[in-house]
Amino acid sequence: MNLILLGPPGAGKGTQSENIVKLYNIVQLSTGDMLRAEVSNSTSLGEKVKSYMVSGSLVPDDIIIKMIENRLCLGDCAGGFILDGFPRTISQAQALDIMLSKINKKLDFVIEIKVDDEQLIKRISGRFTCPICKKGYNKLYLNPSNPDECDNCGKVQFLFREDDKEETVRSRLVSYHKQTSVLIPYYHQMGILYTIDGMKDIEEVSERINLILKRLT
Ligand code: AP5
Repeated sequence: MNLILLGPPGAGKGTQSENIVKLYNIVQLSTGDMLRAEVSNSTSLGEKVKSYMVSGSLVPDDIIIKMIENRLCLGDCAGGFILDGFPRTISQAQALDIMLSKINKKLDFVIEIKVDDEQLIKRISGRFTCPICKKGYNKLYLNPSNPDECDNCGKVQFLFREDDKEETVRSRLVSYHKQTSVLIPYYHQMGILYTIDGMKDIEEVSERINLILKRLT
């Protein structure tokens, strides 16, 4: 099963990917995570992309396309993959079509998770994670039992993403509406787009996604 999770920042793409990975044993390819790893390892790619990410704008297409092209041909993608955060422009979507046809693969579903902008800003500004075990928390509804300690591993300092400041989130939303939302009609035309109400709680969104995915399995 090969699918794309499409949606604005904070829609729940990462959260829902985790569920799908567990249920279907496929790999999650998150371009945001890949880029953050490059930045935190201070690689030359990380140095190139840092300023785009910090300002909330999109990293140039050629960099992202090459990164995904290198990743998709690895063996672990053979059993299926979730693209989380890619494609984000029409050029990226067209490049993906070409990449997939070269390796005899196709997309089965594009799941759009739809959420209001103001709700997204609230969610993102509440988000923090444990830097060691990666457990995610949210000030709105999921706090650790002890405010200074991860429930999972006991680490005492949490990580807040630099691009999660309200001003940057607003820029990320502008990028989404200008450059990424055009992918909705693109995939609708291909007949593989499914839209989910992402304003519902996490469990309900998961259930709705699973109902769609079950059609193929
Ligand atoms: P990226 O890391 O992809 O960020 P994003 O798309 O902005 O997505 P987020 O990770 O913020 O949100 P999400 O939808 O995964 O939500 P989550 O599940 O975490 O990209 C970062 C940057 O990298 C970009 O700005 C760009 O610069 C660059 N980049 C990446 N890919 C690129 C590309 N293809 N081209 C060019 N540049 C690229 O949930 C958020 C919070 O909400 C969590 O706390 C979660 O618990 C909570 N939550 C989730 N679902 C619900 C729910 N249903 N109800 C209540 N709370 C919920």
